[in-house]
Amino acid sequence: MTSKKQKAPAKSSWWNFTGDDETFEARNPDRLSRLYFPLCNEAGLLSAITPTLHGDIKTGQNTFVTLPLSEQDLHNTRSARNFWIYVEGKGPWSATGSSANAVLQRAAVRTPETSHLEAGALWHRMTRENKSFGLRAVTTSFVPAGTEQVEIMRVELTNTSRRPLSVTPTAAVPLFGRSADNLRDHRHVTSLLHRIALHDAGVLLTPTMSFDERGHHANTLTYAVLGCESEGQPPIGAFPTVDSFIGEGGTFDAPRAVYENVDVPELTDAQLQGREAVGALRFRTRKLAPGKTFTYLIFIGIAQDKKEALGWLKAYGTVDKTAEALTHTQAWWKERLDRFQIKTGDADYGRWVRWVTIQPLLRKIFGCSFLPDFDYGRGGRGWRDLWQDCLALLLLEPNALGSRLEVPGVLPTASSLEPRASVRGLLLNNFGGVRPNGTNATIIGKAAGEFIADRNGISRTWMDHGVWPWVTTLLYVHQTGDLNFFLEEAPYFMDQDKGEKSSGTILEHLLVQHLVAYFNAGEHGHIRLEDADWNDGLDMAHDRGESVAFTAMYAGNLKQMAETLLHLKEHAGLASLSLTKDLFLLLESSGATPLLNPAERRQRLETYRRRLRENGVSKTQALDTATLAQDLVIKSDVLAQRIRDSEWVRSTGGQSWFNGYYDNNGSRVEGEHPQGPRMTLTGQVFPIMSGVATNEQVQQAYAAARKTLKDKKLGGYRLNTNFGGIQLQLGRAFSFAYGEKENGAFFSHMGVMFANALYARDFAEEGHEVLSSIYHMCMASETAKIYPGMPEYFNGEGRGFYHYLTGSASWYLLTVLTQVLGIRGAWGDLILAPKLMPEEFGALGRVTAITWFAGKRLTVIYVNAAKKPFGQYTIQSVLLQGRSLPVTDARQVKIARKIVQDLTGSEVEITVSLG
Ligand code: G1P
Repeated sequence: MTSKKQKAPAKSSWWNFTGDDETFEARNPDRLSRLYFPLCNEAGLLSAITPTLHGDIKTGQNTFVTLPLSEQDLHNTRSARNFWIYVEGKGPWSATGSSANAVLQRAAVRTPETSHLEAGALWHRMTRENKSFGLRAVTTSFVPAGTEQVEIMRVELTNTSRRPLSVTPTAAVPLFGRSADNLRDHRHVTSLLHRIALHDAGVLLTPTMSFDERGHHANTLTYAVLGCESEGQPPIGAFPTVDSFIGEGGTFDAPRAVYENVDVPELTDAQLQGREAVGALRFRTRKLAPGKTFTYLIFIGIAQDKKEALGWLKAYGTVDKTAEALTHTQAWWKERLDRFQIKTGDADYGRWVRWVTIQPLLRKIFGCSFLPDFDYGRGGRGWRDLWQDCLALLLLEPNALGSRLEVPGVLPTASSLEPRASVRGLLLNNFGGVRPNGTNATIIGKAAGEFIADRNGISRTWMDHGVWPWVTTLLYVHQTGDLNFFLEEAPYFMDQDKGEKSSGTILEHLLVQHLVAYFNAGEHGHIRLEDADWNDGLDMAHDRGESVAFTAMYAGNLKQMAETLLHLKEHAGLASLSLTKDLFLLLESSGATPLLNPAERRQRLETYRRRLRENGVSKTQALDTATLAQDLVIKSDVLAQRIRDSEWVRSTGGQSWFNGYYDNNGSRVEGEHPQGPRMTLTGQVFPIMSGVATNEQVQQAYAAARKTLKDKKLGGYRLNTNFGGIQLQLGRAFSFAYGEKENGAFFSHMGVMFANALYARDFAEEGHEVLSSIYHMCMASETAKIYPGMPEYFNGEGRGFYHYLTGSASWYLLTVLTQVLGIRGAWGDLILAPKLMPEEFGALGRVTAITWFAGKRLTVIYVNAAKKPFGQYTIQSVLLQGRSLPVTDARQVKIARKIVQDLTGSEVEITVSLG
């Protein structure tokens, strides 16, 4: 086998880590377009900030403080935080680099100005220095952890020249104060709703009404820009309207109020009301001595009313208070990121992982919308994302069984502290979105238990939706040992079927999802693609399309369910299970031969669904656990065998891989083609992950992917080969330019799942190669052109897109923790089964990880002085809190949960020697 070693990533040139944690610096980041950084808190203030402090601030689709921007308009000054200094004798300078002059100078790469970014979780500090003006501004932006929806901007202005400077500062943040919908829908009319109030500290905008998707409503929310000097001294006045600030013929990067150093105006009511607003705060003209610094504090946000907004001044309105809030905010994020730590031979790796760790938390707060690349969605998340994000959230919880509520997308309320407010409660709640007919609500609302059938009345079925709840639930039960969870009752989502309310056990919900999928057979015997699977872009094969890829996952899940049932029988005394009678239609419990004929399978499903529509959910009837398990195994085998035998395609080049799809003509999608081989990564990942592929097939599918999908230069794996044209019989994805998004990009989520699948099958060297390729693409800063972390995808040029809000981060953490480090639960007990490669051990021959398990903070140290690879090393000794444990298995350590729980103290150290 050829060596799969990766070249070490080129040392990044425009950003570098600066400490032991996630903090990094970037030189002149404003020379790159499309860079953005997230700022937010759990109270739901969502900001994006660029090196020139552009980017919008909002709390949701209907409440934008500043103008909504997508990545292409990030340079638009209509949505920027600016801080102007008028220097007597010299003119205006933008301390944020956002002036007409600065733009021209940057474009000509001829600028007397340098910029430098330092950032960490979650704060952003730009230092900008201009030699001609003799000024340096250090602008720190953050959203304080807490309950206020406010962003703080602290500007520290220093005279770097030898002469005193007379400076007149003006902070300027244009306000939007309404729904993103109003960008095109009644942009002008909604400005007529604006009511602007001037306060000593700044500008308060309280529109009389809001016009948005919910209709026309009276509004009480206040959008505000307030500010003060270091000890709370208020500004001397404000330019509260766009007209008064930029003036006739002016622009936001050359506002006349600043360029002509105009005094603050006295506006009549007619000039003030029903106008586009801006928080342009004029501060007192002061002499700044050489080497001296003035500090200004600006507060931008949303409040329930004016009083609440003015409360920001009380809470943060001096340099000391702001500094304290910053320290508190940094500590808040640090505590979360410290929940998973890894140290390998590559010092940057553990630092980069901290940025991956923050991503599931960001998706919990932002949903899948509201950063500049995410110019779709109106908040909230889809079903698949909800379940997959839970993977990481439950691994990052100190005690998944019962702790504070961490509901994705849900604002903390008093009920957050209730006992049901655990990961357990969250999962239980999510099951309320499953319909008795096996489909589910697709949009998850903000309140716990709030589900929406679909957005914009477009009813779609994603055929993979049944797969994820099982994956997440099984992980939860393994991590916690909470077997009873399967038998908890949860409601069904009853928007389509007859009957009012209905409920069933969690196991029944899961069975419904899988049995319905099994019977939803296409003409080749695989599960119908419906309106798409994981790949949202395979959306045009509703009638005859089939997803072989996800059929494999359903097959794997059915087998795991059978094993789980037998485990429950043995360890929880579950002799039988009560199931709604109609579900027996989908079971061959009488021992009859399973229905193999796809048409008959579909017919049976139709009967089941008709009964539900007509009669609602039927009463329950008991079924012997072992009989049920046997039925599931038979079904699993039927699906798996067919894939193994009939979907294994061979190319003329001697490569073999799995066909993952049938299109709307009922034709096989993958294999040889006159325009070159057609192959998808998805088609390989799920047969491998589910256990459907034989070991031989795993090896060959990996070899084929390496040859056909791996990019020799960039190192990553593409989602698919170039099909050379649009595919109207399969989906919109192929209409995207090749190399972008779901058409052949380096899609992190599928790449990580590929690695996960390979590790799970003990192909650790291969898994490592895939995982490293993603890490290296992220660290290749010259091509990736993003800050540290993992983007949704890299395009054909290796540039990162859709940074921060991607499900791949959850899968990445899951894979590193439970596969690479092999630290995971098995029905509640602790397993340590590392699958590490020699280079990961570094010079010291050790890998250290910190994580939570059973309410204890575990430090696991793997020592491998000889640096043997996985497959060759065996476990030599195990020390638990310094005490030796007997080694009973050469490949894994198993420690009973009770032993871990009964240890005194909350910190536990385990050292495993490999040799
Ligand atoms: C996104 C979606 C995910 C979907 C994927 C492919 O991936 O969130 O649900 O499966 O595109 O269409 P993500 O941004 O999570 O990486």
